[in-house]
Amino acid sequence: MARIMPHAIQIHETGGPEVLKWEEVAVGEPGPGQVRLRQEAAGLNFIDVYHRTGLYPQKDFPFTPGVEGAGIVNAVGTGVSSVQVGDRVAYAGPIGGYAEERLIDADRLVELPDAIATDQAAAMMLQGLTAHMLLRQVHRVQPGETILIHAAAGGVGLIVCQWAKALGATVIGTVGSEEKAELARAHGCDHPIVYTRQDFVAEVERITAGRKLPVVYDSVGRDTFLKSLDCLAPRGMMVSFGNASGSPDPIAPGLLAQKGSLFLTRPTLFNYIAAREELEGAAAELFEAVSSGAVKVEVKQRFALRPAAKAHRALEARKTTGSTILTV
Ligand SMILES: NC(=O)c1ccc[n+]([C@@H]2O[C@H](COP(=O)([O-])OP(=O)(O)OC[C@H]3O[C@@H](n4cnc5c(N)ncnc54)[C@H](OP(=O)(O)O)[C@@H]3O)[C@@H](O)[C@H]2O)c1
Repeated sequence: MARIMPHAIQIHETGGPEVLKWEEVAVGEPGPGQVRLRQEAAGLNFIDVYHRTGLYPQKDFPFTPGVEGAGIVNAVGTGVSSVQVGDRVAYAGPIGGYAEERLIDADRLVELPDAIATDQAAAMMLQGLTAHMLLRQVHRVQPGETILIHAAAGGVGLIVCQWAKALGATVIGTVGSEEKAELARAHGCDHPIVYTRQDFVAEVERITAGRKLPVVYDSVGRDTFLKSLDCLAPRGMMVSFGNASGSPDPIAPGLLAQKGSLFLTRPTLFNYIAAREELEGAAAELFEAVSSGAVKVEVKQRFALRPAAKAHRALEARKTTGSTILTV
């Protein structure tokens, strides 16, 4: 019997939210090592904006954006033994998530424990694994350390605040409004700074009594990058992991010497979960953090997938907080 054609968001040319088109797509049968996934929800992430605008260029057009989703396996290709039809699974990458159905390599899927709801998984895989990368791998946060996370009330931000707090850190977080400051505070941020009206470098100096910080996690990019360097103690680690306000300008290596022999890294999650064991290890720690209650991931906004442009407009206008899903 012929299958009804599923739909997905397709991008034929880069641009504004209007380039997100809802179209029929031929998904077909899974090839060797692949499965077909019937998605319940896709995650909304800032990287989807970079893909849409072309800041992170794609080779092939049209393409389906989205790097996060969760659902039920409904067909399995040859050579797949790790999952079966009917399994409840989730993933963070590769691209192709804004879809009712998709094909994906089985080794990119993690099976969901009962404690994690499917829509919650769609909201937290990419942002939660990113928080794991930041706090447990790029700079392993130690009890008693004070850290700075920018956009603390955002998707990655709320998870980082809670997880860092659970690890015994004091958390300083920047936010764009008083409401976001309250939200961040309720999620473990000890010192929210409204950086749209307060000087966050001066606030960090005040809060740390001039000692400054061992690490800054900066996903805002252009607007904050140089000032973030001024928040670091000598030999501190600058973790530039996003560009919500645009890409930071290039710097000369000598600037890191002048600012105190700083370290600078520009991590991308996909390099930290490329190997199957890395993905499994990080996902296990994330699921433990959520199952234990140390990190709560609430779906703060739900949009229908079909008018995905609406969700992109809200994200880019800084109108979302925490995690957002696109329901299929
Ligand atoms: N490197 C990696 O592997 C990796 C993985 C995942 C995410 N990321 C990055 O982490 C960041 C957070 O991602 P997310 O999906 O959780 O998004 P998000 O934090 O929920 O949304 C972005 C937030 O950035 C802040 N922002 C500051 N200036 C902005 C501007 N000019 N335009 C828009 N937003 C601005 C806003 O918060 P305020 O109003 O509070 O300022 C906004 O809510 C993004 O930069 C993303 O690219 C990186």
